[in-house]
Amino acid sequence: MVMEVLSSPGKISMSNRCFARISGFIQSNFGIKLPEVKRTMVESRLQKRLRVLGLRSFDEYGDFVFSPEGISEELTHMVDLITTNKTDFFREPSHFNYLYNSVVPELIKKSGAGMRKPLRVWSAGCSSGEEPYSLAMVLSEYAARNPGFDFNILGTDISVRILEKALKGIYREEVAEPVPQPMRKKYLLRSRSREETLVRIKPALRSKVRFRRLNLMDPDPETRTPMDIIFCRNVIIYFERAVQEEIVRKLCRRLEEGGFLFLGHSETLHGMSLPLRVVAPMVYRKEL
Ligand SMILES: C[S@@+](CC[C@H](N)C(=O)[O-])C[C@H]1O[C@@H](n2cnc3c(N)ncnc32)[C@H](O)[C@@H]1O
Repeated sequence: MVMEVLSSPGKISMSNRCFARISGFIQSNFGIKLPEVKRTMVESRLQKRLRVLGLRSFDEYGDFVFSPEGISEELTHMVDLITTNKTDFFREPSHFNYLYNSVVPELIKKSGAGMRKPLRVWSAGCSSGEEPYSLAMVLSEYAARNPGFDFNILGTDISVRILEKALKGIYREEVAEPVPQPMRKKYLLRSRSREETLVRIKPALRSKVRFRRLNLMDPDPETRTPMDIIFCRNVIIYFERAVQEEIVRKLCRRLEEGGFLFLGHSETLHGMSLPLRVVAPMVYRKEL
């Protein structure tokens, strides 16, 4: 039997068997690759769950998390800790310019999306909300200059903790620095506590974004409403190539013909056979 060892005072290490069990489960259920080099990260992120639950080893933790009780309660905490939620307002800013100047006018011209019916945008893997709120700011600016234009945004993620943060829409002021000054004034409220200055998304902007938990590995996520635009940036980078292709194929099924898919800057679809063509760096259009 592999023994749990204390590698440094107070820090519990994970056995090979337990790491294989957790990483295998995460990869097959959520797509996220956890190769051996990620073991230290997994250990340190899950360490505090052992303390909270009063467990002495990761083997005990593994037995608990995969028990019927653990699956219904502890799994949510494990997923919250394992996912990497790094994000920013206006991350990869060229995408937001392209959206405003090219994508929205093109969709209005092609199908009237945004004018005859609200434009539908999905931020898949939205983390704590910075991406969908950036989209809401840009599209609100478009609406201010183009009467009759309307939109709604769906933000989804697998992590419950991060979605709670997104729903609140409250951030440290430094986090909002990438928001262009005129938009900060229009869409954010400042509030100062003794410790820090916070900004809050104004209710009118918040009302344009809905959030819900959704696993992109689900067989056919959210099949009902077809989307005009999907942002799925810096999410599939954590998946195996075959899984990336499978997920992008599902996203394509959710996209209207002529709709646009935005990916992160290091997520290439090169060599995959998908009904998409490149229209700008990491922007794809579903074939008409
Ligand atoms: C690095 S963040 C990217 C956030 C944002 N799209 C951006 O580019 O700034 C990746 C997000 O994908 C989410 N994620 C990972 N696997 C997922 C899955 N199987 N289904 C849905 N969301 C997932 C994570 O929880 C995390 O919040």
